[in-house]
Amino acid sequence: MSNILTKAALPLAALVLGAGLAAAGTQLDPMGALAGRPAGSDPLDPMTAMRAKAEASDASAGNDEFGGLPDGAGAEETYYQCVACHSTEIIKQQRVSDHRWDELWTWMVEAQGMAEPDAGTKQTILTYLKQNFSSQR
Ligand code: HEC
Repeated sequence: MSNILTKAALPLAALVLGAGLAAAGTQLDPMGALAGRPAGSDPLDPMTAMRAKAEASDASAGNDEFGGLPDGAGAEETYYQCVACHSTEIIKQQRVSDHRWDELWTWMVEAQGMAEPDAGTKQTILTYLKQNFSSQR
């Protein structure tokens, strides 16, 4: 009885071990880091590259302290002025003209009740927005 069990168990164990190694085989991906893939991701998953790209651009494009806004003069002022009502995502996805930023500012003040900062801060923020989230440059 026990002999039969052993005979059956051995190939089974080999099978399980083999499957384990095969699974580990896809995990061991020495080119992953070079290709920008997160460790442990499946190189055969077509979404991996896209995700890695999104993560990489997130990391390079923004300062975590200011909601991922790119570093630069005005990033801090923009963050504190704008996140009172919504996240920075709505800002980061914009590519609009200088004129449109002026309009958006006015709309935020007049229609949304955004508090106007002093003129210098307003200038700093608008310059920052036009510089970083522009369709013109
Ligand atoms: C007083 C609240 C408030 C503040 C402060 C505020 N916003 Fe908004 N903002 C809103 C609301 C409300 C919307 C509309 C959100 C929606 O679509 O549901 C909006 C939408 C936007 C949009 C999207 C406009 C579109 O075309 O859909 C942008 C861009 C934007 N805000 C930028 C800013 C920036 C930049 C600042 C800082 C200078 C700012 N907001 C500060 C309330 C505010």
